[in-house]
Amino acid sequence: MAANAQGRSFPFQNGQDVALNFVRASKCRSRRGTRCCWIFLLGLFLVVAATSQGAVPSNARKVIIDTDPGTDDALAILLALNSPEIRVEALTIVAGNVTAAMGLENGLKITSLAGRCDLPVAKGAQGPLHGKLIIEPFWNGPNGMGGAELPASRCKADQRFGPDLIIELVHKYPHEITLIPVGPETNIALAVLKDPSIVPLVKGVVLMGGSISGGNVNGASEYNVFCDPEAADVVFNAGWPVTMVGLDVTEITLMKNEDVARLEQNAGPEANFAAAVARFQIGLYQGTGFGGGAIHDALAVGAAIDPSFLTTKAMRVDVETGGRFARGATIGNRHGTVDKVVLHGDQLESVGVKPVEPNVSVAVGIDSERFLKFFVSRLQGK
Ligand code: BDR
Ligand code: CA
Repeated sequence: MAANAQGRSFPFQNGQDVALNFVRASKCRSRRGTRCCWIFLLGLFLVVAATSQGAVPSNARKVIIDTDPGTDDALAILLALNSPEIRVEALTIVAGNVTAAMGLENGLKITSLAGRCDLPVAKGAQGPLHGKLIIEPFWNGPNGMGGAELPASRCKADQRFGPDLIIELVHKYPHEITLIPVGPETNIALAVLKDPSIVPLVKGVVLMGGSISGGNVNGASEYNVFCDPEAADVVFNAGWPVTMVGLDVTEITLMKNEDVARLEQNAGPEANFAAAVARFQIGLYQGTGFGGGAIHDALAVGAAIDPSFLTTKAMRVDVETGGRFARGATIGNRHGTVDKVVLHGDQLESVGVKPVEPNVSVAVGIDSERFLKFFVSRLQGK
């Protein structure tokens, strides 16, 4: 049987094979028999063509989601698993919103809910490259899912270490995999540090993290980068194409009660769970000046599915790995140049400007309304 982009099976592997087998097996050698054969084959062709219309295209793009689930992570995963344009090859779990152990449990519960126990879910780093892990129970509730309960998972954890699984899959599918990190970048950095040869083999990195317009942990830093700035520094400077889906766009794309109400119409278990998580998010943001709940990570998945949701600008982005007030800040050079300066005694003289090489495609705009409609439509009725 053939598998579609999300691993489900279809009864017809290949119409041509079926037809050939029929011809080989057929005993129709007479003229009348030959005519019968042709009529039968034509009918068979029409049946196969009609059956394959609903099938997911075989050119679905392969992705790995590196995640710390986490409320909005859960929404991102469900969006990915319900989108035929992409094929999720693995979930790798990183410590962040919750501990790696809780993240693994949540990742397995989500794949179980979606009926996707075929998908490898592998635990990775239990803390940042340097310093200690800072989790976020306030934003994710005590169970990491905003209190929304899921039944115990039927799926089992993959025993490989997350960064090793990333390395293995990138070598298995050279130039085909897009990485979607939606937690601290620790696993991705560990993979690059262990095996830098993966860098040119990765198709691209579409990450949720960073901001060039202020932070959500402090005045400057976004949580995922703040959690492990050294890892983000490795990922931003590895040399592969990076798209940064940061707070600049995720904090202006807010789920409202009306969106959740649409999600709840004829809802199955996935939509019901997503609605409960979204309601928790909306509740958190009430009274903060935001007009709804930010579902950050789902936007990175959305951008990997359809980059046209975003407007991007190529920039040099540096990660602040030191600092007293801005550790984890992503500093984007909006002009693409720096001053050429000469030091004369105690005076700096500017003698021109020199261009700086961009390393990141920064999301600076988003069609929020279209994205939210898309998000709801993908989970509606599921
Ligand atoms: C990011 O940090 C976490 O709280 C969310 O899951 C998201 O990945 C937003 O800053
Ligand atoms: Ca996350």
